[in-house]
Amino acid sequence: MKVAIASDHGGVNIREEIKSLMEEMGIQYEDFGCECNTSVDYPDYALPVAEKVANGEFDRGILICGTGIGMSIAANKVKGIRCALVHDLFSAKATRQHNDSNMLAMGERVIGPGLAREIAQTWLTTEYEGGRHANRVGKITEYESK
Ligand code: RB5
Repeated sequence: MKVAIASDHGGVNIREEIKSLMEEMGIQYEDFGCECNTSVDYPDYALPVAEKVANGEFDRGILICGTGIGMSIAANKVKGIRCALVHDLFSAKATRQHNDSNMLAMGERVIGPGLAREIAQTWLTTEYEGGRHANRVGKITEYESK
């Protein structure tokens, strides 16, 4: 699995935490910034990463900002992206099993690095269940192709 990761200035610490998790897990990743000590605009990071996941260059994407909200809104504008904003372990598991989410967004002003690490680990290791969920996810894909 190849993962693209990025954050704005509000998510740098969790980004570093998740990179070290992926190193421990032996997951290949690429860091797309930010290289920031000053304030940046989250769409400038969310959209390129989402496009790289949508075009198959990367299998999954992880985005972190202050709330995770701006990153997830921006990423979900890209066709083919199912970006889940997650701040608890139940949702981390469920969004993989039910939604086949291909991107994860988290907010560093909402949760700490310990929980973020567990959420990312769960999200990276949980399989999509397909079955009855495939019809539902398929309806989203169908709408996108209109
Ligand atoms: C930046 O101040 C903040 O707005 C951003 O990190 C994020 O929370 C946006 O949704």
